[in-house]
Amino acid sequence: MFEYRDGILYCEDVPVPEIARKYGTPVYVYSRREIERRISKLKSVFGDVPHLIAYSLKANNNPILLKIIKDAGLGADTVSVGEVKLALDLGFEPEKIVFAGVGKRRYELEFAIEKGIKSINVESYEELLLIDEIAKALSRPVAVALRVNPDVAPKTIDKIATAKKTSKFGIDMETARHIFSNFKSGYVQIRGLHVHIGSQIFEYEPYIEAVEKVAPLVNGKLEFFDVGGGFGVDYEGDGREFDFEGFKKYVVPRILELADEVVTEPGRFIIAKSSILVTEVLYRKPHFIIVDAGMNDFSRPAYYGARHRIVNVTLKGRKKEAVGVGGPVCESTDVFGKDFELEIPDRGELLAIMDTGAYGMSMASNYNARPRPAEVLCEGKSYRLIRHREPLEDVLWRGVQE
Ligand code: LLP
Repeated sequence: MFEYRDGILYCEDVPVPEIARKYGTPVYVYSRREIERRISKLKSVFGDVPHLIAYSLKANNNPILLKIIKDAGLGADTVSVGEVKLALDLGFEPEKIVFAGVGKRRYELEFAIEKGIKSINVESYEELLLIDEIAKALSRPVAVALRVNPDVAPKTIDKIATAKKTSKFGIDMETARHIFSNFKSGYVQIRGLHVHIGSQIFEYEPYIEAVEKVAPLVNGKLEFFDVGGGFGVDYEGDGREFDFEGFKKYVVPRILELADEVVTEPGRFIIAKSSILVTEVLYRKPHFIIVDAGMNDFSRPAYYGARHRIVNVTLKGRKKEAVGVGGPVCESTDVFGKDFELEIPDRGELLAIMDTGAYGMSMASNYNARPRPAEVLCEGKSYRLIRHREPLEDVLWRGVQE
């Protein structure tokens, strides 16, 4: 959905420089078609199998994008009362909302229980006891799933792996066994199991491994099995894909032996490749280009050492050279990387950081008193602002009055 026409980068049928002129930079630019294409792809993996694709709001929670996702029939995977509320406000049906998270507070649980969402994914025995207490007090039945830590370590960046025994997520196997055999409650019904093994994964095997590890816990059939998110995307731009064939052939049938419905919670797969972050060149140095987007706008490179391709928005046929690209923030980690092959741009020219749709805007901050960027959605030939650039006044004074 992002391609060059006569040396100018387009998002769908919109020339990217036009968006930058109109809304300024840095600006996240999204392609609606790419989001829809990704959703169709996922739906085709499941076909007639009873399933729920619960989009993981943490990847990107722009309300206009969420509406597109909701209208396509997807559910919502949430991790805070804010995300549960946002999903409900936008019209996601409660029966399609799951709520995970290791540190849910009492009021967050109360809210979810009152709304009757599909499942609270419980991450510790103590949380289960608290849910039971609240359910009794409210006299409300509650559907939960146990999020179990299957102790698997798929190949991914260490900082985004979640299912090793030593990680903070999920209930350990022994406690889960104990709960399944001893936990009794008049209100809390354990309807499902949940595992999430990490992010940016390409092989189906770790999913099978996780399912097999927790399978002995299942005694009789569960209502649903939530196999988490994590389907990888090709940040390198080489067309590499998650092995959906293997997933469909081996993982899905195995889950259906354990449960009536397969739930997945993809975030990145749906949204990562739908967006670029467009930024203006401020200054050139011998080995570095300084741009107006910083780690507060897009933090994956600084947080995880993630590599996102960077390209010239306008190609002029100049010789390409290897240069680093960094932002204005006063931190040495505020660099998007070194050795990008770029036509050395003049000041004021635009660069695009690729594949920034997932964990881009949702992780943006106000570090260095910088307002968060604007967001624009392209739909064929038209485009519209879907989030205003944050006004500077909102950033500068949020304290109590003296
Ligand atoms: N379900 C659970 C329980 C999760 O913890 C996550 C992500 C997902 C689903 C969605 O995973 P996805 O399909 O997007 O890989 N900020 C990091 C990623 C952190 C992911 C946290 N959990 C990054 O930028 O790579």
